[in-house]
Amino acid sequence: MKNLKDKKILLIICGGISAYKSLETIRILKRNGCEIKTILTKSAKEFVTPLSVASLSQGKVYEDLFNVENEAEMDHIALSRWADLILVEPATANTISKLAKGSSEDLASTVILASNKPIFLCPAMNVRMWEHPSLKENLEILKLYSYKIIGPQIGEMACGEYGEGKMTEPIDIVNKINDYLYFINKNKKLKALVTAGPTREYIDPVRFITNKSSGKQGYELAKSLSRNGYQTTLISGPTNLEIESEVKVIKVETAEEMFKETQKNLPVDVAIFSAAVADFKVHEKSNLKIKKSDELTIKLEKNVDILNYISNHNSMRPKLVVGFAAETNDLEKNAIQKLKSKNCDIIIGNDVSNKKIGFDSNLNEVTIFYKNNKQEKLFVKSKTLISEEIVERINNQLT
Ligand code: PMT
Repeated sequence: MKNLKDKKILLIICGGISAYKSLETIRILKRNGCEIKTILTKSAKEFVTPLSVASLSQGKVYEDLFNVENEAEMDHIALSRWADLILVEPATANTISKLAKGSSEDLASTVILASNKPIFLCPAMNVRMWEHPSLKENLEILKLYSYKIIGPQIGEMACGEYGEGKMTEPIDIVNKINDYLYFINKNKKLKALVTAGPTREYIDPVRFITNKSSGKQGYELAKSLSRNGYQTTLISGPTNLEIESEVKVIKVETAEEMFKETQKNLPVDVAIFSAAVADFKVHEKSNLKIKKSDELTIKLEKNVDILNYISNHNSMRPKLVVGFAAETNDLEKNAIQKLKSKNCDIIIGNDVSNKKIGFDSNLNEVTIFYKNNKQEKLFVKSKTLISEEIVERINNQLT
């Protein structure tokens, strides 16, 4: 598992019967060259001793929040910055609930809240707790925050019951982390570009034609690409959205400006065209504000089709071209038609006649159409999760 070598892992052990398995996780991580610091929650100490953790990890074991010695040596903020990733194992129902609420009542939850690193949770609990709606809601919230969930698996519980809730085995947890780091290391060398948001086609200095795109889908895609290691450029029409500084953002207004900036930022390995680009622009834009009158006739002309141009541009065509299809009817037929006519590798079709999803909604439901006639539907969920699943497929396509 060579992707683990020299990685700094902050292991947070919570109070569950599976806590003893964290000792095995420590052993495997150490064997693969990781540096480990550990936080033991108060209840975890009922299951494993600080001494056993320290001797196996050969790293500092932290216990409570404001211990003068800790703060002096490495305070909770520095601890979260030190780590390359944070592994919460086992993640009990209580811990998951606290994290979903953004609690920071102890060192573990404070460090996680302050963290800017990938966070992996390994749930472990009784099958009834795992099935409880409140637990599921809390997990959905954490997935929205881009926490990665490993497991649990189905098996015999310590309490004798059988079902889903048994913590994933340490070797499988470490393998998952190794796979994640493999993608991050590989993707670091890859460049991604996303177009997002609406465009504005001016009629005169104060009036313009636009649409309802908020840019949310494109921004979530750019965030997910960046978190997966890609050097990401986001070319954004007018929105009121912010994004993490790791993403290079270029603000534009018109389709022409978006086209120019897209070309300037090629070549890339993957380009995702989620922007709602105006198909038409005003034939003759007035330099002065048009005076009110009973009638106003505006002549429109076709705008450049950015996706079509880039996708058919042989020398600078990205390795993977992902288009979107915003349809109000015949989604499959129209999306496949765009997949072919615009020479895309993937088209993401979404039904924008459904007010619950698509334009300006936090939710979306998409069907992914591939060149090999395969298709798969991602049912309605947050645009964050939709983006994570789309980027997961891009990772696999670019392997
Ligand atoms: O921004 P949100 O509020 O989050 O809403 C998300 C979304 C609904 C805008 C998004 O999911 C979406 O569907 N984006 C594509 C919107 C669109 O213009 O679809 P289209 O079917 O009209 O265009 C097809 C493809 O060609 C798209 O990839 C589009 O970016 C691209 N295109 C279109 C016209 C043009 N002149 N240049 C282009 O590049």
